[in-house]
Amino acid sequence: MAKRRAKRSAEWAGRQARDPYVRRARATGFRSRAAFKLVQIDQKDRLVQAGDAVVDLGAAPGGWSQYVAARVGSQGIVVAVDRLEFPPITGVTRIIGDFTAADIALDVKAALGQRPANLVISDLAPNITGVSSIDQAGCALLARAAHDFALSVLTTQGTLVVKLFEGVEGQTVRQEVAHRFARCVVRKPDASRSGSREFYLVARGPRPLG
Ligand SMILES: C[S@@+](CC[C@H](N)C(=O)[O-])C[C@H]1O[C@@H](n2cnc3c(N)ncnc32)[C@H](O)[C@@H]1O
Repeated sequence: MAKRRAKRSAEWAGRQARDPYVRRARATGFRSRAAFKLVQIDQKDRLVQAGDAVVDLGAAPGGWSQYVAARVGSQGIVVAVDRLEFPPITGVTRIIGDFTAADIALDVKAALGQRPANLVISDLAPNITGVSSIDQAGCALLARAAHDFALSVLTTQGTLVVKLFEGVEGQTVRQEVAHRFARCVVRKPDASRSGSREFYLVARGPRPLG
């Protein structure tokens, strides 16, 4: 068991050392290589404008929040929530807690003030077990919660970016999201490792219920 763990962590260290996005994150000051996934989705889909109000769900260590804070500028709002502590980011309101808890969701909405959100981004991930069916289900559960939260805060032109894992659960959530938004596309940015089962939905324009 200990041997297998040591082998896995040596493999991880080797992958990190070879990864160009890890090097770029260090060089540019991003806290995570994940930041480049959002950069690349934004380059394709023009997600964020100066002055926007943005909610980042599952924000730690903060790469996505760093990027959107720079893009929205001083007239914008970025509210970042994670159940793990992470260091402050200039221009970002941090909320530490589980966003599926009612009091934390209320704190996030209060931090937006009276403004609806232009963009909700979710890179939420469960603790990975390595068992594909469990990880897929955990990610789908979080993605559904992110979707429901987004519907409660987005403007009628607003956008949701949400991570899913490939598989039956992921496809079911994809259909649910596509049903509730005017447009929904799948993105697999170059910075997302090809061996990873993750992909992202970019969903625009929540539809009214009915
Ligand atoms: C892949 S990381 C996010 C990386 C981030 N986008 C970045 O660029 O630094 C996923 C995060 O989701 C968080 N998370 C998972 N479930 C959560 C929940 N229910 N509430 C808040 N955060 C959660 C985890 O703690 C973890 O930090």
